[in-house]
Amino acid sequence: MRIFKREQRSLFGEILDWMLTPLLLLWPISLALTWLVAQGLANKPFDRALVYNVQALAQQVRLGPDNKINFSLPQPASELLRADETDLVYYQVRGTRGEHLSGDRDLPAPPAEQDKGSSYEVQIRDDEMRGLEVRVAYTWISLDAKNQAPALVQVAETREKRSVLAAEIIKGVMLPQFALLPLAVLLVWLALVRGIKPLSELEERIRQRKPDDLSPLDDKAVPMEVAPLVVSVNELLERLKDSIVTQKRFLADAAHQLKTPLAGLRMQADLAQRSGSSEEDLKKSLQQIGRASVQATHTVNQLLSLARAEGGGTHLAQQSCDMVLLASEVLQDCLPRAMDKGLDLGYEGVDSGTLGAQVQGNATLLKEMLRNLVENAMLYTPSTPERQGVITVRVLVDPYSRALVMQVEDNGPGIPLPERDLVFQPFYRALGTNVDGSGLGLPIVKEIAQQHGATVSIDHAHQGSPPHGACFTLRFATT
Ligand SMILES: Nc1ncnc2c1ncn2[C@@H]1O[C@H](COP(=O)(O)OP(=O)(O)O)[C@@H](O)[C@H]1O
Ligand SMILES: [Mg+2]
Repeated sequence: MRIFKREQRSLFGEILDWMLTPLLLLWPISLALTWLVAQGLANKPFDRALVYNVQALAQQVRLGPDNKINFSLPQPASELLRADETDLVYYQVRGTRGEHLSGDRDLPAPPAEQDKGSSYEVQIRDDEMRGLEVRVAYTWISLDAKNQAPALVQVAETREKRSVLAAEIIKGVMLPQFALLPLAVLLVWLALVRGIKPLSELEERIRQRKPDDLSPLDDKAVPMEVAPLVVSVNELLERLKDSIVTQKRFLADAAHQLKTPLAGLRMQADLAQRSGSSEEDLKKSLQQIGRASVQATHTVNQLLSLARAEGGGTHLAQQSCDMVLLASEVLQDCLPRAMDKGLDLGYEGVDSGTLGAQVQGNATLLKEMLRNLVENAMLYTPSTPERQGVITVRVLVDPYSRALVMQVEDNGPGIPLPERDLVFQPFYRALGTNVDGSGLGLPIVKEIAQQHGATVSIDHAHQGSPPHGACFTLRFATT
């Protein structure tokens, strides 16, 4: 039974329900029990008087000289017996053959099957007489030794007095309960308010915090039951702190990356404006300005691309993308630049439409990922007449497990083992290359790969003598 119905479950209401419902259920049970006990209690004193009367009457039953039972009750005694303010009193004496000797004829006999008990032993039963409920005390009396059947003496009384007393007792017990019950509810309420107080205090402490205060909450200051909650909130705060630190660092790095080419731009512009600079100097400055602005544009584009990748996974359109088709599109885009640099850019692997070569995801992001890998390979792989740079893109499908693997391999310098994790961090750029870049390409690759359930790993293209070449492998999870 729910007393307090609420949309949102309240701990307070829940506990109150579970305490008050049993209390309210127990109450009628206690009422019934009280009623039963009161009945018993109310019978006791009047039963005793009834027993006493039966015993007094039994004393008057005598054995006459002719061995016949005789009974005589003086008129005043009979009147005394019947004198009662509230109840009607009946009596009856029967002889050994069950014949009526004295009193009210219509007082019912005790049930025949009942044990008669020893002589003068008084028994009590509930019965009905003249349409009224009566309480009857009776005894069997054996007067002679000749195995004669015993005589019967009964005294009956209506239940008026008893009912009044029982009602008095019930009233006496129940009335205080009416006062006690609301008091009990009030006490339970107060106890609950007190019990829940630490939670309100915790709430207050959290509310009073400064917006930038991510220090852990004190889990010793809360009740044991709430401590796990506080511990998990603290863990969340810890993670939040980490992520805020990472974001701040990212922002600082991004600002720095943008500042450098912009500062270069200004410096070159200043230089060009100086009086007396030759046409040669001017040309050089303009070249530098061009390079710096390309650099800044690239960084901004990469930043936007990373932001798109990070935010895009869930709400960009998902579709089935054929990775072979995507690869060929990227290769076509990159081919002119590869030819300019004298690079051999090619494709190996399964044909488009092969079962298993499809990835459920966003085509734009997947192309972005692949383009970053191919562009890196083109940037960092030198091509000389003696040793031509070769870049190979592969799409492979395991014929048994249908696992899809994509590779971008080059014969450039490769990436040494200690740097293979670092290159995936934003703005990390290996020293010693004179290539312009933002350090965001591989983080973009990793982000997009993660969103498509793929892992990226870096290996040497071959183990022989250097240059080892870099081989980036994307493994897509089989669905
Ligand atoms: N194919 C590759 N061969 C050698 N080094 C690479 C290759 N791809 C990436 N790297 C290294 O990883 C670093 C990070 O790459 P990336 O995140 O794309 O940033 P960026 O290209 O802007 O420098 C590069 O600076 C480069 O040193
Ligand atoms: Mg790059």
